[in-house]
Amino acid sequence: MVDEVKEVTEKVADLDVKGDAQEDDGTEVDPWDVKGKVDYGKLIKKFGCQAITDEHVTRIERCTGMKAHHFLKRKTFFAHRDLDQILEAKEKGQPFYLYTGRGPSSESLHLGHLVPFMFTKYLQDAFKVPLVIQLTDDEKVLWRSLGIEEAKRLARENAKDIIACGFDIDRTFLFQDFEYVGGKFYENINSIQRSVTLNQARGIFGFKGEDNIGKVAFPAVQASPALPDTFPHIFGDNKKVRCLIPCAIDQDPYFRMTRDVVPKLGYHKPALIESVFFPALQGDSGKMSSSDPNSSIFVTDTRKQIKTKINKYAFSGGQDTLEEQREKGANLDVDVPWKYLNFFMEDEEKLAEIGEAYSSGKMLTGEIKAILIDVLADMVERHQRARALVTDEIVDAFLARRPLSL
Ligand code: TYM
Ligand code: TRP
Repeated sequence: MVDEVKEVTEKVADLDVKGDAQEDDGTEVDPWDVKGKVDYGKLIKKFGCQAITDEHVTRIERCTGMKAHHFLKRKTFFAHRDLDQILEAKEKGQPFYLYTGRGPSSESLHLGHLVPFMFTKYLQDAFKVPLVIQLTDDEKVLWRSLGIEEAKRLARENAKDIIACGFDIDRTFLFQDFEYVGGKFYENINSIQRSVTLNQARGIFGFKGEDNIGKVAFPAVQASPALPDTFPHIFGDNKKVRCLIPCAIDQDPYFRMTRDVVPKLGYHKPALIESVFFPALQGDSGKMSSSDPNSSIFVTDTRKQIKTKINKYAFSGGQDTLEEQREKGANLDVDVPWKYLNFFMEDEEKLAEIGEAYSSGKMLTGEIKAILIDVLADMVERHQRARALVTDEIVDAFLARRPLSL
């Protein structure tokens, strides 16, 4: 069985490699909402994390022997906490593991969700480390009007999209909270719950008196997978394996809380590497989100749908008339097609040429949109081919409690 699964997941991985991104100013970033234009420089200060530097990029290339992912070189992953300690551990030959997750609130992922998963796949390949992926079906019952069975179904559907990103079956454990909470996982949830007061939770997450009490208790469920002994079949009772969490910066509050409490419980603080948001088509709000289908491109969209959405909705920094565009060029700072290409066009030279041509007026909005449509549709079609190979048996194999290669 494992051999069959491996054959398919290797195919999936092959498909994946070919071809190819506050304060009182009205900005709000939390795990549920991103409002206003996000100033990422300010956010780093406000949250108290650090910037990713060119030195990090070089050091990662040195210690993995691989070229850095363009998400790193372009600072799509722009912030971190304790990344240096992870790299130091790696350089000393000490083990660490990766942890990321998904709240299954919709049938399929949008392009923004692919960002952390693609990056996590690169980190897994580069560092050759175990990875755990949490599907928080319980969270979505508490926050959305989803029934339990529906949330569990969506978790399995989303698992297929996640597996289609090409993760290594020997090094990846996927779990759904409704199935996996119990045993040591629940003991760790319980220890964390005991260590955080209601006042602290309110301060971090802004809970209100009318919120259901499940919400208040949930952050401990997202925190616990950052503790290695939550996974006895992988790490035994070892409390000292370091953890690195790749995610977008909206998830930071959970892990600020985690980092506060776990040293008292005998663990290292988890390290984080955090990305900017893939913006909505309209560009004005902070992030692409599933709640508005016309603001999002889904991994299930057809080439035709992608074309229509980009042409109709993608906010353009180009000028209103041909003459004006030729004379002034486009404003790249607000241009959504340009931003999207920065996420998903790998070729540095081609990207630079497009930026130069478009901002100087040699290239028109219709032309950059046409290039983008091809890049995105090729990527989405490749994802769909990979996903079609992921059967229920393969999902079960990733969900199985088993040792991983360390
Ligand atoms: P969820 O399902 O809202 O998002 C899944 C992952 O995608 C990131 N993300 C984005 N990245 C870039 N651009 C966007 N527009 C965008 N929208 C979402 C999220 O930051 C996240 O990394 N509670 C979590 C699930 C979870 C988790 C974790 C996430 C559980 N444990 C550990 C990260 C790490 C959630 O609902 O994610
Ligand atoms: N991003 C999710 C949404 O759009 C919500 C979410 C993310 C969330 N992380 C969370 C909710 C953690 C609760 C806890 O709804």
